[in-house]
Amino acid sequence: MNEAIFLQACRHEPTPYTPVWLMRQAGRYMAEYRALRERVSFLTLCKTPELAAQVTIEAVERLGVDAAIIFADILLVVEPMGVGLEFSQGDGPVIHRPVRSGVDVDNLRENDPRETVPFVLEAVRQARSGLPTCIPLIGFSGAPFTIASYMIEGGGSKNYIETKRLMYNDPGAWRALMERLVRIITAYVNAQIEAGAQAVQLFDSWIGCLSPADYRTFILPHMKMLFAGITSGTPVIHFGTGTSGLLELMAEAGGSVLGVDWRIDLDTAWRRIGYDRAVQGNLDPVTLFASQDEILGQVKRILTMTQRRPGHIFNLGHGILPQTPVENVIALVEMVHEVSEELRAVKSTER
Ligand code: CP3
Repeated sequence: MNEAIFLQACRHEPTPYTPVWLMRQAGRYMAEYRALRERVSFLTLCKTPELAAQVTIEAVERLGVDAAIIFADILLVVEPMGVGLEFSQGDGPVIHRPVRSGVDVDNLRENDPRETVPFVLEAVRQARSGLPTCIPLIGFSGAPFTIASYMIEGGGSKNYIETKRLMYNDPGAWRALMERLVRIITAYVNAQIEAGAQAVQLFDSWIGCLSPADYRTFILPHMKMLFAGITSGTPVIHFGTGTSGLLELMAEAGGSVLGVDWRIDLDTAWRRIGYDRAVQGNLDPVTLFASQDEILGQVKRILTMTQRRPGHIFNLGHGILPQTPVENVIALVEMVHEVSEELRAVKSTER
């Protein structure tokens, strides 16, 4: 039946219903995941291919989604550059030796991801061989800006002061950092594709903190290089949040699918991105805390806005939050499938 409809949607082909998967679909909102995390740390989980593959597959089985995303983290490629990575309980990621100068950039190590993060590639292989053929596996990486923001700030940030300070005050060091990250990310993503990832998502989660002018100057050329280097024929999802002011520029940068968060209507976003691209989104993750009637209403609203145009992948505008009720997530997936199928039926009787 299901002939990898997620990949068909990435390629803009008509599908019998709208494919859906959810960012952070494997995570703390799931009891199975929490039970595993009582035994192993987050980094150990990421570095043990059997466990990472198991968590990846379990989420698909539990939710009935149309794609799997490899269980990993955008900061795994940062650790081997020599900056010191730790996931501290409650505080999120910590980088022990943040990058603050041109000298710091020059001192970053740059090695083949096949040597530095072989566990991710092995997890991709194992997850691919354990998943049903009709469920594509998505690989991923952070995009240069979002990765750089952690490397420079030393962790999460609100105002990105150090990141922007380096960007504005030392454009040479910024360029060197971006170029280095583009090389590393390109190699990393291509290695995941070689290992069996059938699509890749670039997470530029925090890019929305930049003005369009700064995106054009400091980011766009590097993103174009990155997209140009990714193995052709593999759909690339270009994701960010708070990007209502950047959608045209992000589309110009590249990606066969553009991520759209909930702060903009999907129809407006798609018009601005251009109908030659597929789109992914755009439900507010906090909707999943509401009643199922409310969730259904939101699903209908979003699906109606696509006007049944091929090339929409349903997702949240950002990752599932840890406190989310799992039954609502399962219900959401069913709703997307049912409502989108019904909408297509309406279309065929109209003809
Ligand atoms: O989507 C998936 O299911 C795949 C797995 C995945 C994780 N992180 C697992 C994870 C993906 C795609 C990521 C990407 C990621 N990691 C991003 C970009 C996406 C986004 O959310 O914007 C970012 C910014 C990170 C960095 C990161 N990793 C942070 C900020 C945190 C802390 C979050 C928190 O609330 O504590 C992590 C940890 C992390 N990554 C967890 C998971 C399941 C929680 C770790 C745990 O089990 O304690």
